[in-house]
Amino acid sequence: MYSIETENLTKRYGDFIAVDHVSFQVEKGEIFGLLGPNGAGKTTTIKMLTGLTPPSDGDALVAGFSIRKDPIEVKKRIGWISSEVILDDDLTAWENLEIQARLTGVKNWKDRANDLLRYFGILEFKDRRTGKFSTGMRKKLEVSMALLNSPEVIFMDEPTIGLDVNTRASMWNLIREINRDYQVTILLTTHYMEEADSLCSRIGIINKGKIIAFGSPEELKAKYGGDIIEIELKNPSKTISLENAAINNNKVRVKVNSAELALMDIIKAIGNENIKSVRINKSSLDTVFINLTGGSIEEQDFDARKFYAMIRRARR
Ligand SMILES: Nc1ncnc2c1ncn2[C@@H]1O[C@H](COP(=O)(O)OP(=O)(O)OP(=O)(O)O)[C@@H](O)[C@H]1O
Ligand SMILES: [Mg+2]
Repeated sequence: MYSIETENLTKRYGDFIAVDHVSFQVEKGEIFGLLGPNGAGKTTTIKMLTGLTPPSDGDALVAGFSIRKDPIEVKKRIGWISSEVILDDDLTAWENLEIQARLTGVKNWKDRANDLLRYFGILEFKDRRTGKFSTGMRKKLEVSMALLNSPEVIFMDEPTIGLDVNTRASMWNLIREINRDYQVTILLTTHYMEEADSLCSRIGIINKGKIIAFGSPEELKAKYGGDIIEIELKNPSKTISLENAAINNNKVRVKVNSAELALMDIIKAIGNENIKSVRINKSSLDTVFINLTGGSIEEQDFDARKFYAMIRRARR
């Protein structure tokens, strides 16, 4: 059973293709991650799946309904948490929930709203203006709002961006808990490798509008990862013949499937007496991304849209 099935989902802005024939499935009940750098097409994909913008080509079924033919049915069955601020700070938590209920057409929302606030431990603050909420409380309220219409799927666009380490960790727990306790399928986007690794059962790596790899974190690491053994030499002038080795001054870097299995042979090939130190980098999603794109996810292009949005926010 799938909660999301996309087929050749595509978005063009003029000549520019922001999302390029993307096809993937998200199983009911799983936490699925779209991982990619700035401008990869993550938000645009979410905007199409939530019915905020129509696809230029292709289609997707969300909670069983076509985003092209039945966007209204889709909207009834989803929740959405944007990376931007969505709370009205002049209103109380309860009033924000009321607006959400009206926007999504949920009747008899009050019992559920109370239950959600209690579940997240913020019931006592329901009549407080959200302008006075801490970041963690705001996140809990935003998630409550997204859960108000009992959605099958929740979309979270960069749920932990801008959070400090502690708040991020509690957000991770919260995401796992609502996935478990409310049986909600979650599609989230992230820049953070360790976030996708820790939360997601499966990941699609998206770059320049295309999904370039797909699988569980373990599968991706096994397929595209590989460990890296780094050896510092005492005598760099001695010639070394090793497969998959890059030699730079007094350092040799060797890419292997398993460092534990390969290490002894590599030490033998170089010669015990010539080795000053050995370092092992175990395969991570970072190495996966570098292997797939030839660049680190941290090397992000300047994004004018984000920059202007930031200035607008600062001016408010
Ligand atoms: N309304 C628009 N008009 C023109 N181009 C757009 C529009 N929205 C997005 N784009 C472009 O589409 C590309 C994908 O943008 P998108 O916001 O989906 O990326 P993203 O993966 O969410 O990036 P980030 O990690 O920075 O949020 C970018 O090059 C962006 O500039
Ligand atoms: Mg985005």
